[in-house]
Amino acid sequence: MPAIIVVGTQWGDEGKGRVVDRLAADAGVVARFNGGENAGHTVIAQGHELKLHLVPSGILNQAVTCLVGAGVVVNPARLIAEMDELAESGVDVSPGHLKLSAAAHVVLPTHQALDGAGEEARGGRAIGTTRRGNGPAYADKAARTNLRIGDMVDPERFADQVADRVRAHNQLLKEVLGSEPSDARQIAASYGSYARRLSPHIVDGSALLAERMAAGETVLCEGAQGLLLDLDHGTYPYVTSSSTVAGGALTGLGFGPRQVSQVIGVAKAYTTRVGEGPFPTELTGKVGDRIRETGSEYGATTGRPRRCGWLDVVILRYAARINGLDQIALTKLDVLSGLERLKVAVAYEHDGERIEYFPAEAGIDALSRWNPVYEELPGWEEDLTAARSLADLPAAARDYIARIEDWVGVPITFISVGPERAQAIVVSK
Ligand code: GDP
Ligand code: IMO
Ligand code: MG
Repeated sequence: MPAIIVVGTQWGDEGKGRVVDRLAADAGVVARFNGGENAGHTVIAQGHELKLHLVPSGILNQAVTCLVGAGVVVNPARLIAEMDELAESGVDVSPGHLKLSAAAHVVLPTHQALDGAGEEARGGRAIGTTRRGNGPAYADKAARTNLRIGDMVDPERFADQVADRVRAHNQLLKEVLGSEPSDARQIAASYGSYARRLSPHIVDGSALLAERMAAGETVLCEGAQGLLLDLDHGTYPYVTSSSTVAGGALTGLGFGPRQVSQVIGVAKAYTTRVGEGPFPTELTGKVGDRIRETGSEYGATTGRPRRCGWLDVVILRYAARINGLDQIALTKLDVLSGLERLKVAVAYEHDGERIEYFPAEAGIDALSRWNPVYEELPGWEEDLTAARSLADLPAAARDYIARIEDWVGVPITFISVGPERAQAIVVSK
């Protein structure tokens, strides 16, 4: 079937990388559709432990083509560093295996400087961005002033264009934000050499996908971040600057809705968030600390500790609605072992009123007034990491899964019980 879309259903870091790596075995192409190096996708398989930021998570599958799609913003220095690291460990990142859409956008060092200066200027209302320049690069894209990967095919002209853009950013940095300007000539020279290096990888991404779909291949679309970081449907303004939802795969890669056969939402068995903004089920005490340590909840990109909390099925219902989820991949179930009771937010309440939907459009002030309504379920003691079928799980873990399916109304078809590729249960429904 043509296109399978994989998206995050919470605030990112749900384990999209490992789910995509696993599904890639049956795909012809794996294509990233949004975000930039703010993403950090972990893949542990075939003796590798990869933290991928820009390279699609299908890269360990030699038979698939990996595409960085039009909706992505690419810092070429970061991409080249990632490619070099992969090549050193024997992973093929040649132009035959890794391709870049000409319509993807370019991140400049001054976008990163603007990201940092913007955060400083916001003071106590900072978003907690990864400071990788994503917001400013997407802002320039929307303002129609940004450079695209396709501009790299003429490296000399590209270097001149880079110098012009850096000078324009310098004015903003110096006059508006009071920050240090960057060396336009030096940046232009480096970007000229990045262009020479990356040019052989540049393709018409949408045309490539159309050709592969016509040949009957499956295109696996890899989202970055998660629903509540989506620019339109997340907890604005504490969001990222791209479309993280299933619709973003269509605009970010360039194909129509009729090509989509399945939408898979990746959900962690509890909830985490990095950066600022509302988080109804956050646990600030011992249980939160325990989940953070057991689940190694530290950002793959910035190393920041992730905020941890109980599972919130109000959010998952919202994810089902916005993305049209067909299936859920539930990750990190093993991390909950040893907790006596598990809480799950099934609704929100405020002043005697109860709602079962996520009130995203009401804004963050309204959201912070709602309190989660919890149901409690018994936990389990057993280590789950060796489980490979539902029957290997203790009854309480099976019950946890079944109750989530009931609350959300979407089947859970994949359960992971450890970070490695094989540590998973595939459920056929
Ligand atoms: P992504 O951004 O959605 O791809 O997720 P990240 O890679 O940023 O974060 C997920 C983290 O959890 C990574 O460190 C994974 O190696 C790890 N992980 C994924 N699945 C599991 C699992 O089932 N159990 C455990 N213990 N760790 C997992
Ligand atoms: P993956 O793909 C978790 C968060 C940042 C911040 C907000 C805006 O690994 O799930 P940005 O740098 O994008 O302008 O920051 O979004 N954020 C992520 N949180 N996982 C990610 O990606 C994230 N990418 C951005 O922490 O709160
Ligand atoms: Mg991540």
